[in-house]
Amino acid sequence: MLPPGYTLRETQAGDYDSFVRTLRVLTTVGNVTALQFAQQLGVWALHPDIYFSRVILNAENNVVATGTLLVEHKVIHECGRVGHIEDIAVSEQEQGRKLGQHMIGELTRIAQQQGCYKVLLDCAPKNVAFYEKCGYKDAGVSMRIDTMH
Ligand code: ACO
Repeated sequence: MLPPGYTLRETQAGDYDSFVRTLRVLTTVGNVTALQFAQQLGVWALHPDIYFSRVILNAENNVVATGTLLVEHKVIHECGRVGHIEDIAVSEQEQGRKLGQHMIGELTRIAQQQGCYKVLLDCAPKNVAFYEKCGYKDAGVSMRIDTMH
């Protein structure tokens, strides 16, 4: 259950200001304009079976938490589906109110409804305990290569 006054819904173009502000607790967002944000939502809307972007709003209707589920449509496991959770952020002053846990619960439910047989995410070691509280378990090593120089 969300605390009183908070709501969870799909991300909308009008969320631009508080969405970008919230994401800054996670990483560098850079210079993203309202138009670029709206265009990105337009790309997501073209693939409604792949992109599931959600926000939690406070009583003032400002975004205070973000999260996205990507549904990968595979060939293996009889054209099975795998969920990928990305860009989880809770604004600093709202952390510790179970908003992150609620967001992960909702994205995991959507993945189940979409027929995903598993859900994956990458996180820093300091966040492992948070995801364990959300029911996730350590699944080994994550590898990466940085392709922009
Ligand atoms: N270490 C240990 N336990 C934690 C941590 C942590 N870093 N964060 C939360 N918890 C615990 C809480 O104490 C709580 O435990 P309880 O049920 O025993 O009371 C439980 O996890 C749920 O915590 P929430 O209140 O739901 O956590 P919050 O809303 O603060 O969100 C989050 C946690 C998302 C990690 C937030 O601190 C945040 O946005 N951090 C900065 C950005 C970030 O690192 N995002 C995750 C990136 S990984 C990805 O996107 C896939």
